[in-house]
Amino acid sequence: MEPHIPQLDARLATAAALVRPGEAVADIGCDHGKLTAFLAASGRYPKVIGADLRPGPLSKARRTLAEAGLCAKAELRLGDGLSVLAPGEVGTIVLAGVSAQTTADILVAAPWVFARGGPRLVLVPATKHALLRGWLYTHGFALLRDIPVQAAGRWYAVMAAEYIGEALSPTAVSLAACLYGETGREPGAAAYQALQRAKLAKMRLGLPGEAPLAQAIDALLAQAGTTV
Ligand SMILES: C[S@@+](CC[C@H](N)C(=O)[O-])C[C@H]1O[C@@H](n2cnc3c(N)ncnc32)[C@H](O)[C@@H]1O
Repeated sequence: MEPHIPQLDARLATAAALVRPGEAVADIGCDHGKLTAFLAASGRYPKVIGADLRPGPLSKARRTLAEAGLCAKAELRLGDGLSVLAPGEVGTIVLAGVSAQTTADILVAAPWVFARGGPRLVLVPATKHALLRGWLYTHGFALLRDIPVQAAGRWYAVMAAEYIGEALSPTAVSLAACLYGETGREPGAAAYQALQRAKLAKMRLGLPGEAPLAQAIDALLAQAGTTV
């Protein structure tokens, strides 16, 4: 049988492009293993690790690697979050397809990630992009890239973050920074930002006019020439 290297959608292809070349990489929450296999096939990384919390997804990943003829080129590990890694073992950690909250919980459980010169994080939250950006800014991370991509009819943000040790206070992080991040520098920004802006009306519901969040929402909508 011919080896079958999986095709990646725009979301995972963009994540793959943000991995630091020449260093080990871990795909945490690898599930089907397509990204793990793609990274292993590229030959650009000295070690490729795919990991998942549950045995079912990990067997899917094992099958994907077998079909691609890549079993010897990637390690699969079963376990919770970054507990499967030794501190400093990889140069990039990819966390794609889990919620913003799960992403933050997984990172908080691994204090070695919070170090200057530590691993690059490549993050593709399944939900609540704004929440994850706010968390990154208030926990000492800088967003190096923040790329809006469309896959299967939905918009995603593919983020590359590195720890710089400058944790902003929550009041210093603007609503615009959480909502749009660094997407303004990327193609697709206008459509992505319009979609993010469309969430503001729901967020504004029930807030008294004098609430700081209500004022921030009103200011953003006014800037965009819309109101709730
Ligand atoms: C929706 S899949 C995403 C698969 C792939 N990363 C992608 O983006 O297409 C989410 C995967 O994350 C795994 N997962 C959830 N919480 C996890 C944790 N704490 N540690 C490791 N894996 C986790 C789930 O078991 C599931 O296989």
